[in-house]
Amino acid sequence: MNSFHKVVEHDFAAVNQLIIDQLHSDVDLVENIGHYIVDAGGKRLRPLLVLLVANALGYQGKQHLSLAAIIEFIHTATLLHDDVVDVSSLRRGRPTANAKFGNAPSVLVGDFLYSRAFQMMVAIGEMDIMAILSDTTNVISEGEVQQLINAKNPDVTEANYMTVIHKKTAALFEAACETGAVLAGATPTQRLAMRQFGYHLGLAFQLIDDALDYEGDADKLGKNVGDDLAEGKPTLPLIHAMENGNASEKALIQAAIREGGLDQLDSILTIVQKRGGLDYTKACASAHANQALALLGELEASPFSSAMAELTAFSVARSS
Ligand code: IPE
Ligand code: IPE
Ligand code: MG
Ligand code: MG
Ligand code: MG
Repeated sequence: MNSFHKVVEHDFAAVNQLIIDQLHSDVDLVENIGHYIVDAGGKRLRPLLVLLVANALGYQGKQHLSLAAIIEFIHTATLLHDDVVDVSSLRRGRPTANAKFGNAPSVLVGDFLYSRAFQMMVAIGEMDIMAILSDTTNVISEGEVQQLINAKNPDVTEANYMTVIHKKTAALFEAACETGAVLAGATPTQRLAMRQFGYHLGLAFQLIDDALDYEGDADKLGKNVGDDLAEGKPTLPLIHAMENGNASEKALIQAAIREGGLDQLDSILTIVQKRGGLDYTKACASAHANQALALLGELEASPFSSAMAELTAFSVARSS
């Protein structure tokens, strides 16, 4: 257990129980697939953020537990859909749900989890929270579709890439932090600061994810490396290497993006490392993490705000 779990240990245990309780369905296949992905764990960073922000702002009720479970359900739904779209075969150290059960049930159980999240939101009954989370799920879908459009296109710009990772990933971090603040009755300034904290943390998180897709260890990550190149995804390590490489290096990366597949993984990795694509991506992640840390100054110092700083540091230093 990390130190940022420790300060919300009891809340976190209650959220994990709630996640299991809320997977119930009369349809066995729904429960089986739901448990299959949920029981494999995951880092649960987004629900932790809900708990940490709510506690940091002095929240005294119990609804943050449901909110945290809701956010994890939305995240889990995106993973079920994402693994179909990315044709991924490993998730959380297990064969993906699509590899084990097929694409159709994975997509449909993803829908079940989204809609279960919305049922739980209605039970909380806060219109501001429903507004944030419905906008967020909408934006995540757009981000994934924009990324799909970008696949196999070597001309995608860094700005376009940043828009995609904001929408597909940072948006849910923003929502986790902002809704935690709303529940706690934050001032408008604190609410905005928490949203911005989530934004920068979420960008840093996805930038590292995209670096780890090249240089990570599948055993530690619980997912395969090379999935992005296999699908011809122009992520920042490649975009930067194309901008800084010589003509033949650039041509090799362009062709690999256009064609997809892992035939050229070794030579691409060599170029990306030589041209600083991974260092640059990690430096961008660190810069966003530092912006996130600066925003914590809007909170009164507490064990919870310190845990948020630790979670931020973990997100950029992680190998899993
Ligand atoms: C994976 O998120 C999807 C991305 C946004 C990169 P996590 O790395 O948080 O996945 P789990 O929940 O820990 O498995
Ligand atoms: C994940 O991006 C974004 C969402 C789940 C919406 P990735 O496709 O990079 O995530 P992983 O690497 O499969 O976890
Ligand atoms: Mg993926
Ligand atoms: Mg993806
Ligand atoms: Mg990834």
